[in-house]
Amino acid sequence: MNPASLIPLAEPIPVHWAWFDVLLIVTFTAHVLFMNAMLGSAVIGLAQAARGRDSLIRAVGMKLPPLLALTINLGVAPLLFLQVNYGNFDYVSSVLMGGWWLAVVFVLLYSYYGFYLYKFKYEAMGKTLRLALFGSSVLGLLYVAFMFSNNMTLMLRPDGWQPYFDGHGGFLNWRDPAIYPRFLHMMVGTVAVGGLFAALLGRHKGNEEFVETGMWWFTRATIVNLAVGVWFLVALPTRVLLAFMGGSLPATLTLAAGVLSAGVMLVAGFRADPRRTAAWAVITVFFMACARHWVRTLYLEPWFKIETVPVTNQYGSFYLFLGFVVAGGGLVAYMLKLYFKSRQGRA
Ligand code: HEM
Repeated sequence: MNPASLIPLAEPIPVHWAWFDVLLIVTFTAHVLFMNAMLGSAVIGLAQAARGRDSLIRAVGMKLPPLLALTINLGVAPLLFLQVNYGNFDYVSSVLMGGWWLAVVFVLLYSYYGFYLYKFKYEAMGKTLRLALFGSSVLGLLYVAFMFSNNMTLMLRPDGWQPYFDGHGGFLNWRDPAIYPRFLHMMVGTVAVGGLFAALLGRHKGNEEFVETGMWWFTRATIVNLAVGVWFLVALPTRVLLAFMGGSLPATLTLAAGVLSAGVMLVAGFRADPRRTAAWAVITVFFMACARHWVRTLYLEPWFKIETVPVTNQYGSFYLFLGFVVAGGGLVAYMLKLYFKSRQGRA
């Protein structure tokens, strides 16, 4: 069967595709940063607890429920923009994954509830039960992350959709050699940013032990990730790899900017300056999200070009959306201002 015949027709979009791509990359960067801070600090807290040091897991445990809520909320935005521009691929991969994909909602609920219990019933639980609950919640989030990697890679390979027609409904993208380094790259990056989050928490609380531990994990994980990144690059199809090696100037420059920024970030990390490192981490994650977007564009090139999708030029609803973003952003900023003011009063 010709895989191209399996790709649904692209729906017309209301405004120029570049708007949605930019919003997709920006909101995805925010999603990943929060996901990293949440999951990475939970993993490090757990590793410390396994060595008998409980103070970090207790401190990050207090932050996990709001961080998880923000990760989910900031995931909705890129999901919507992804579906606007690439829905004819992403809806298909979601359907092909079937139960694996649907289970994400329930597993996420379990992890969310687990973190809430850990925070609010800490004293009422024994140590073993506490760690089992926390550990299984972390495992649940690793499952969610792996499902996202599966969906985001399966959507890129219509030539890998065939098993569905051989009677294998609900399958994962195991046959793709790029998924392993891709997922590992994401998860090692998660540990790095999680370490940075622990260090920032330490700086905020005046706890030098957290700063030291967090920066230790950040620098080690980042060095490991430079190697995993190279593995990811060489695991890509040759056509995509060559595009990053000079074949496509914008793709090559984006990756080069990401690697350069990662280098500066690492230097700031070794100087044990969490705030400066965090600023470079935001820049690095943004460039890497752009490079990841190039990976998607290049993978899909033989099947689909976003420029060919019809545009209906209905800008009215789009301006309404932008108006709500600005007004909503202003209201959130005002609420945060009131919140911090009231906290000062209480202190
Ligand atoms: C809280 C647990 C979550 C974790 C650990 C997580 C993790 C991840 C990871 C690792 C990726 C990158 C996958 C890859 O490209 O290989 C990703 C992408 C993504 N996540 Fe999340 N995610 C979580 C929750 C959510 C939720 C609840 C949503 C939506 C409601 C969401 C929306 C997205 C979207 C749309 C992308 C892809 C964006 C793009 O391709 O540009 N995530 N997530």
